[in-house]
Amino acid sequence: MLTAIRECQALTLVSCFDVDADAVRKTAGEYGCVPVGSFEELLASGIDAVVLVTPNYLHGQQVREALAAGKHVFVEKPLTPDIAEGREILDMLVRSKAIVQVGHNTRKRAVFRKAREIVERGVLGRVVSCHAHFSYDAGLHAGLPSWKLDPTLCPLLPLPQLGIHFIDVLQYLVAAIHEVSCFARSAVMKDENGRDIVDSTVSMMRFRNGVTGTLHAHYVVPFTFEVALYGTRANLVCHEDSLSSTSTGDFEFEEEIIPVDEPPYASFIAELREFAECIRHNRTPEVDAETGLRNVAVVEAMKRSVVEGRTIKVEEVRPAKV
Ligand SMILES: NC(=O)c1ccc[n+]([C@@H]2O[C@H](COP(=O)([O-])OP(=O)(O)OC[C@H]3O[C@@H](n4cnc5c(N)ncnc54)[C@H](O)[C@@H]3O)[C@@H](O)[C@H]2O)c1
Repeated sequence: MLTAIRECQALTLVSCFDVDADAVRKTAGEYGCVPVGSFEELLASGIDAVVLVTPNYLHGQQVREALAAGKHVFVEKPLTPDIAEGREILDMLVRSKAIVQVGHNTRKRAVFRKAREIVERGVLGRVVSCHAHFSYDAGLHAGLPSWKLDPTLCPLLPLPQLGIHFIDVLQYLVAAIHEVSCFARSAVMKDENGRDIVDSTVSMMRFRNGVTGTLHAHYVVPFTFEVALYGTRANLVCHEDSLSSTSTGDFEFEEEIIPVDEPPYASFIAELREFAECIRHNRTPEVDAETGLRNVAVVEAMKRSVVEGRTIKVEEVRPAKV
């Protein structure tokens, strides 16, 4: 994120804070900004906006503090760890002109911009179903920050960390998610007391337009990044740097690979440029607090589905418009 701030050429890094004093010193040295000793001091340091790249469980409180101090806020995904905290932010925004943007950078990746264009052109025919899978094996290696290993601070670990990226992408490409059913398990990971940590989730989803889909998110299998849309005329599979499509007609299949060129950090740079533009011109970001909360609501519905062992409608966890 720091590299993206420097390279976006739209924001100036004025000051930085981290509870880890070494990280503050290093960042200040590398990026030429002023180190400060507390979040309060950061908010009082003459800045227009704050970029929060802190543990999920702190997002709600830090966004609210920043808004109360009159700052615009860019907060990494998820907007908040739960709906109640997200609502408090939305309530504050009713009385504020501040911009809140959530770091759902994945939808800004070139493959998903291209995929949306293909869907909108009707190339797939009617989209019938979809499948998304975002995993990597971070849970098999030492060194994870302690908050990710604490189910009270980061419940269903692979969902808020990985799966939520594709929840946002699918709501961008397909439609709002209407209901979900989720299975979660601890395949490998344990905390220091030997208690299970959820490292594997599989969810089924029905979207508002009737499309059905599945979402895999695992923290203990090799890197996998794939979103597939299945339509009456063609299927489209989005990989990190290409799309592959299979179209059908009279029982003949045609396969096409569409390479997509994307420089490193491009989606992070794009979202930060948008943030700066929104502040300058008082515009609403593509992923504003409302959109961010819609993604949080889907994760919350998935959590409730695991606890109650049934399909949950997203409106059950967030009765207002979702
Ligand atoms: N968009 C993406 O692709 C993407 C990728 C990775 C992480 N993230 C998000 O970024 C956030 C950080 O994730 P991470 O993996 O870097 O976590 P991390 O634990 O590695 O880093 C968090 C940093 O916040 C600091 N911190 C902790 N408490 C703090 C406090 N009270 N005030 C100030 N700083 C504090 C920590 O010292 C650490 O430097 C999370 O919300 C995560 O979901 C987004």
